[in-house]
Amino acid sequence: MMRSHNCGELSAGDLDREVRLAGWVGARRDHGGIVFINLRDRYGVTQVVFNPERLSRDDFEKSAALHSEDVIQVRGRVTRRPAGTENPRMSTGEIEVLAEGLVLLNRCAPIPFEIDEAAQVSETVRLGYRYLDLRRPVMQRNLILRHRAARTAREFLSEKGFVEVETPLLTRSTPEGARDFLVPSRLDPGKFYALPQSPQLSKQLLMVSGLDRYFQLARCLRDEDLRADRQPEHTQIDLEASFVEPEDIQDLVEEMVARIFQTVNGRPLERPFPRLTYQQAVDVYGSDKPDRRFGLEITDVTELAAAGGFEVFRKAVAAGSRIKGLALPGVDPSVTQLKGYEEKVRELGARGLVWIKAAGGNFQSPVAKFLGPEILAGLAGKFGLEKGVIFMVADADRKASLLLGAFRLMLASDFNLVPPDRFCFLWVVDFPLFEHDEESKRLTSVHHPFTAPRPEDLDYLESEPLRVRSQAYDLVLNGTEIGGGSIRIHQAELQRRIFKILNLEPAAWEREFGFLLAALERGAPPHGGLALGFDRLLTTFLGLPSIREVIAFPKTQKGACLMTGAPSEVSPEQLKDLDLRRIS
Ligand code: AMO
Ligand code: AMP
Repeated sequence: MMRSHNCGELSAGDLDREVRLAGWVGARRDHGGIVFINLRDRYGVTQVVFNPERLSRDDFEKSAALHSEDVIQVRGRVTRRPAGTENPRMSTGEIEVLAEGLVLLNRCAPIPFEIDEAAQVSETVRLGYRYLDLRRPVMQRNLILRHRAARTAREFLSEKGFVEVETPLLTRSTPEGARDFLVPSRLDPGKFYALPQSPQLSKQLLMVSGLDRYFQLARCLRDEDLRADRQPEHTQIDLEASFVEPEDIQDLVEEMVARIFQTVNGRPLERPFPRLTYQQAVDVYGSDKPDRRFGLEITDVTELAAAGGFEVFRKAVAAGSRIKGLALPGVDPSVTQLKGYEEKVRELGARGLVWIKAAGGNFQSPVAKFLGPEILAGLAGKFGLEKGVIFMVADADRKASLLLGAFRLMLASDFNLVPPDRFCFLWVVDFPLFEHDEESKRLTSVHHPFTAPRPEDLDYLESEPLRVRSQAYDLVLNGTEIGGGSIRIHQAELQRRIFKILNLEPAAWEREFGFLLAALERGAPPHGGLALGFDRLLTTFLGLPSIREVIAFPKTQKGACLMTGAPSEVSPEQLKDLDLRRIS
């Protein structure tokens, strides 16, 4: 038996017990010829005392030569710590193990950081030695909670009659708006598999198969620019069901999210989650994923603000702009700070930023003399502001909202307006089906091309496509999109109409999606579903700064694995097998 107990288990109830422990050497101290070490494993830390009087000379010498992170096995007896040396912060803090034997199981070479100091070292070093980084209790907690959350999801969905089905990784393109990772075929040189950006088409085909309720903890691969909340491979709790309406999926997902939240955060969630239309989200929060942990709501003040003598506003409104603003109550920032904000908002693409400082009926603003006292007071009334600052921009309707939406987040962070430990879930619904892509000058799908339009908007599909709303719904938590889904198109004819509006040539769509169209023509039931971004969900639940904290072996911003060195060069023979050649 390597060990009788783990390192987090022993307590005063075990006094005098003879035990065997195994683990890693943490902090180590020498006190007058006696060696103390903290022995650590996944379950906790136990203090072990090496006293030359109780050990063979050989074993004692070994104990004196132990290094950080050596792997050892200790035989000894549980004793109470001397009065005054107990450690109430440790579950094992009342006891220590008096060693009677020591086996060095493995030496540890010099390490780039002590495990309990890893939080202070750069992430580059942590990622290069991820196996050491993952020895930290907080990282182990994250992985264990991830496991429990996955298990909760699996249990919940299984209870509800969902069947977990694995879908292929080597497949055809499934467009989710990112670039595909491609895998060259050796057996058919010149041809490529695409790694799935999501199991979207597979799960729709499972509905055509009559499986009725599918789910999968699915790995999704997207070659896109990476950020704190984006990895080239992420995991989704992916699900799909037949004969459903949006509310069926939303209710199911709320119940599941509440269960996972209970598992991870140990408390219930208030339900149902509020719903906002896409238009409301943009108008009031300047974002399709509003953070509602704080106020700073956006208000349209066009009529009032343009009524005064401020030329910039008058001209802007005459040219079709709107004037929108938000109020930051209770603060008294300096003029320098306010000018700094004007600069920052210009960097976001605004033409300017008007600020008005209010305090007890007095106003200060670079444009106070143009607006005049009545309008200043009117604006303060409209924002309900006694003391604080009003900010306004004049711009095209949507752009004004988006600018203030970004500014709102900046202010919330600068003025510490985000309360800790608050979880604001909401559904955003009634998205537009299409948007205009500036780069390609074409219409693209706001979600993916398989999203169903709202039936009452079908008549405008060709004539006014930008007016058509979809049956999509996003789940948002604290300003992060943690999930998205929709009712799908289940009729081939409508799917072809959508491809056509997206400017796909019939030959191209028959080639790329002919298999889907063929399936839709062969008894496809109405169906819909959703995918939760599992990494993002955990990151937000745990209040962590990056999704890398909940992924065992993540990639850097540049898509590299600093530990294995992936991506790496391959041999000329491998390229030859695949009929590939470097051209640069
Ligand atoms: P979507 O593309 O919105 O939908 O993805 C679903 C959720 O996955 C998360 N997510 C990511 N997380 C980390 N890194 C990424 N690169 C990344 N990309 C997306 C987000 C997002 O809300 N097939 C559809 C779902 C459906 O319609 O059923 C899909 O993939 O939290
Ligand atoms: P300018 O004429 O650019 O010097 O701007 C005069 C003042 O009006 C400055 O305080 C600008 O920040 C502000 N301003 C100019 N254009 C806009 C706009 N579109 N929205 C809000 N404020 C603006």
